[in-house]
Amino acid sequence: MFIAANWKMNLDKKSINFFIEHLRDYKFSDDVNVCIFPPTIYINFLNELINNLPISIGGQNCHNLSFGAYTGEVSAASLKEFGCEYVILGHSERRIYNKETNQHIQKCAELAIETNLKPIICVGENLSVRENGKAINFIKKQIIECLPEKFEEIIIAYEPIWSIGTGKIPHKTEIKEMHKNIIEIVNSKTKKNVKVLYGGSVNENNIEEILSVNNVCGVLVGGASLKIKDFLAIYSSAVKYLDKIHNIED
Ligand code: 13P
Repeated sequence: MFIAANWKMNLDKKSINFFIEHLRDYKFSDDVNVCIFPPTIYINFLNELINNLPISIGGQNCHNLSFGAYTGEVSAASLKEFGCEYVILGHSERRIYNKETNQHIQKCAELAIETNLKPIICVGENLSVRENGKAINFIKKQIIECLPEKFEEIIIAYEPIWSIGTGKIPHKTEIKEMHKNIIEIVNSKTKKNVKVLYGGSVNENNIEEILSVNNVCGVLVGGASLKIKDFLAIYSSAVKYLDKIHNIED
């Protein structure tokens, strides 16, 4: 189980310090992994703060080339050098505001893998695509075009655009259908291991319902990951949910 905190362009040194201080004595579960994606400029700061805490760090994006005259960009190698294990690629905000294409995202994913970063490729439809019944075909094209040629393991985050920051989440059956399709689409190209995360308005009240859906391996949390209280409420609900299902299985 994976809980990713995408801080986007939020928080500062003081609030990051506050956040991590509250995790110092926290009892983490081995079953639920946490990765924080801070703004690039705070990656090193966060890395030094987390010390021995069981938290990974990731970049919110990387460039599709290794180095060069690309003002304002960040390379996969720099993320790796400063302790990142993951990188989010193709987030809908980057697709919309930075006009990132599937072809660009594929190149970034390939370079990330070469650099030993684990890419999390984001896909998601807007409301009109969903309402016109075209969501699955839309996601299929995104995945086929973004998937790197070679990989051992890939993480896809299904983040419907209409759910991001809106408080609306898809019905359980819609998440179930989409995650099943995503796995089938990846498996139609390769039998390599694929994990699918859900993202969009995840909070402490809906986390259990979302995690109970088949093939949801974790969540990508935006707004509710900015405050330590909200984030820990999500984390502890996930742990309780896993304990509950383990007990049922026993
Ligand atoms: P919210 O959780 O704020 O809806 O954002 C989701 C997201 O974009 C995570 O990458």
